[in-house]
Amino acid sequence: MPLQLFRATVCRVRDLTHDVREIELRLKEPPAIAFKAGQFVSFEVGRDALNRTIVRPYSIASPPSQRERPLLLLNLVPGGPGSTYLFSLRVGDETQFKGPTGAFYLRDDPARDILFVATATGIAPLRSMLYALSERGFPRPVTLYWGLRSQRDLYYKDELEALASAHPNFSFITTLSRPEDGWTGERGRVTPLVEARIASVQNLAVYLCGNEGMIKDVTAVLQKKGLCPIYREKYY
Ligand SMILES: Cc1cc2nc3c(=O)[nH]c(=O)nc-3n(C[C@H](O)[C@H](O)[C@H](O)COP(=O)(O)OP(=O)(O)OC[C@H]3O[C@@H](n4cnc5c(N)ncnc54)[C@H](O)[C@@H]3O)c2cc1C
Ligand SMILES: NC(=O)c1ccc[n+]([C@@H]2O[C@H](COP(=O)([O-])OP(=O)(O)OC[C@H]3O[C@@H](n4cnc5c(N)ncnc54)[C@H](OP(=O)(O)O)[C@@H]3O)[C@@H](O)[C@H]2O)c1
Repeated sequence: MPLQLFRATVCRVRDLTHDVREIELRLKEPPAIAFKAGQFVSFEVGRDALNRTIVRPYSIASPPSQRERPLLLLNLVPGGPGSTYLFSLRVGDETQFKGPTGAFYLRDDPARDILFVATATGIAPLRSMLYALSERGFPRPVTLYWGLRSQRDLYYKDELEALASAHPNFSFITTLSRPEDGWTGERGRVTPLVEARIASVQNLAVYLCGNEGMIKDVTAVLQKKGLCPIYREKYY
């Protein structure tokens, strides 16, 4: 099916850290989007030196039930055309994108527990999946391991804690690879967490999103433990 063009207005902008921002869009035409939790949309963000269109994909961070107001989550990459364009948007501005698309979406597999692993803004599609699962009452155990650098990069603490306290089947660990003094939480990358805490992959479906190195390393760790479906979205 060809991708659909959506026109939208920015209805909310929220800074979550020094370089991470949420942008909520209100769809104008068509007025709603049907997508699977985890899929992405693409923006034309400028033209390169050869006058070719520059396109950048962004996951929808809100759940499919939020059909009229998709949420984006992104970090600023200095000099990067995609993030610079999206960071330039203000409330009331109009924008357009194409989509939805992507094979990284939440599967309906009632026999498997779920492991989510993200680095940095790789949390975006997993957030969509988490809220989709929350709407279904987390029928199976779901674990999230999320890797960030340091305290100044932390966000979504309150909403992940709220999800975990509302749903005993959901638990999460945020780990910092370069914590400053005073951090009492988990330290290091997500890979050793997966290595140490996942005893068996036999009844697991795994979703990995973030940087290429993490996806490669975590996949290798999981594959040493056995066979299970591993769905992956490489951001960079
Ligand atoms: C399917 C898909 C979905 C994506 N969804 C999101 C999303 O929801 N949120 C999001 O922030 N990004 C997302 N990305 C990455 C996004 O498309 C852009 O690559 C990113 O915003 C950088 O684009 P840019 O034009 O600003 O910088 P560029 O000039 O294209 O990038 C410069 C360099 O920045 C690094 N980089 C790329 N992406 C990131 C990033 N996210 N964080 C840190 N460094 C990066 C890379 O090393 C890259 O070579 C997604 C990528 C893919 C493939
Ligand atoms: N966030 C910042 O404060 C900051 C500062 C300066 C520049 N930048 C630049 O901004 C971009 C994005 O930075 P980011 O921090 O948002 O994302 P990032 O560089 O992808 O780091 C996010 C997390 O992923 C971890 N990671 C990296 N490689 C991994 C691997 N192979 N396996 C498992 N985990 C891995 C990082 O650990 P490690 O810390 O061990 O790499 C970090 O905890 C990068 O290009 C970076 O150079 C960011």
